[in-house]
Amino acid sequence: MSEKTYVKRYSALARANHWVTAISLVLLALSGMALFHPSLYFLTGLFGGGANVREFHPWIGLVLAISFLGLFVRFWKLNLWERNDNVWLARLRSVLAGREEDLPEMGKYNAGQKMVFWLMSILIIALFFSGVVLWDAKHEWMATTLGLTFTIEQSRIAVLVHAIAAVIAIVVWIVHVYAAIWVKGTLSAMVKGEVTGGWGWRHHRRWLREEVGKTAKGNPPAE
Ligand code: HEM
Repeated sequence: MSEKTYVKRYSALARANHWVTAISLVLLALSGMALFHPSLYFLTGLFGGGANVREFHPWIGLVLAISFLGLFVRFWKLNLWERNDNVWLARLRSVLAGREEDLPEMGKYNAGQKMVFWLMSILIIALFFSGVVLWDAKHEWMATTLGLTFTIEQSRIAVLVHAIAAVIAIVVWIVHVYAAIWVKGTLSAMVKGEVTGGWGWRHHRRWLREEVGKTAKGNPPAE
């Protein structure tokens, strides 16, 4: 049997950044659902009671916002839309059937991954700003230190925006995790930081060509 070759996909720092983001989103979803509806109040048990959830949720939100900003700065350029992404989308049937030979060669990310990236970016901005309006602490230091006060009308809009953005973010998150598991060998990118050459050839051939070209020239592999 031939030896597998491995290609670096993420640095340790990029992976740590990703997993802080992932863990904070899961904690936010659980604590947010606990606050959302009485039927989900039992979830407060995970955080040691309702008062804790109320206190922790916004702070975890701050961690998510800062951490996602890190991912955004790292990856926004690689997620810019290209003409080939339209072709990939138009051939979604081939994507779902695993007929990758019908698809154009992809760079580091395909159109589906790029859509997850931009949707999450928009949703986290919406969650962050609506969350700031809703943060109870606004009655104290937000008003005195930051001079931030909000009207009841603004709070009402914020509740709506926050809830809608949260539901969409959870759906996008499920799609992201499903895709990461469904495309075999992808999880290893975020766990070990590397993928097999075969995975790169099959799913992100242009990226693989570029990486191989870089190492051949003696340059370090990309982020
Ligand atoms: C806990 C569940 C999660 C799992 C199992 C997971 C898994 C993965 C995997 C395997 C990759 C590598 C994909 C590749 O290199 O082709 C990845 C990339 C990425 N993930 Fe996650 N992830 C999770 C949660 C999240 C969350 C909550 C966010 C953001 C809010 C997120 C944002 C990203 C981003 C931005 C990338 C880089 C891809 C891009 O920029 O388009 N992930 N994830």
